[in-house]
Amino acid sequence: MRTAKRGAIVTVVALGLGLSGAAWSQAPSKADMQRGAEIMQKQMSMMTPELVEKAKALSPEIKQFLVKIALKHSRHSDTLTLRQVMTEILADYQAIGAAIATDNNELASDAARRLANHRLPRGGMLPYLPLEKVTTKDLSLLPAMENIIEVGAIRLAEAAEKGDMGKAAQEFGAITGGCVTCHAHFRGQPGTSERLKK
Ligand code: HEC
Repeated sequence: MRTAKRGAIVTVVALGLGLSGAAWSQAPSKADMQRGAEIMQKQMSMMTPELVEKAKALSPEIKQFLVKIALKHSRHSDTLTLRQVMTEILADYQAIGAAIATDNNELASDAARRLANHRLPRGGMLPYLPLEKVTTKDLSLLPAMENIIEVGAIRLAEAAEKGDMGKAAQEFGAITGGCVTCHAHFRGQPGTSERLKK
């Protein structure tokens, strides 16, 4: 435990994580900082040296944002890849769509809250992005994605709980736009084959 704690402090310093910053709406507690640093340290320990270098070079704001996301999500997988997590996100997304279309506010709000607190993949998100996209500039898209999809899913759940399915449908449309934007930015065509002529 003692070494883990010291390691976490080293990580905080190495990552340049401050207690204040744009990513936080209010300053995180010491316990949160400690837990955040431990999560980041665990993620970094799984990364290749090449990726660690890229991660360390990110701006303090993006690093703080990544810590905030890691703390916000209660489900962290030790085995699943981002693609597998995305399958679960798709299932929740489709459940929300079915619920809105059929005026089922309870299903809509439950599925939206699950989507907002989606699982995080083994090692966090960075290992699954193209290495050349692990830059402050490219990752600066992420806070907007969080607002549209995760905060948006909570807004959707609250609208559904009030029986306002029109508002829920609007949020669902915005969430769809978030999926589209992020895929266009970070994801190539999935499942291409080396055994087809160019
Ligand atoms: C923060 C960026 C980001 C957001 C937001 C995002 N995705 Fe993804 N998604 C990715 C990346 C990157 C991959 C490719 C992962 C890989 O292949 O390792 C991916 C892959 C997928 C896949 C796997 C199959 C495929 O076509 O590649 C599905 C399904 C998927 N996303 C669904 C969704 C849905 C539904 C949403 C919106 C609710 C969404 N994603 C939002 C980044 C994102």
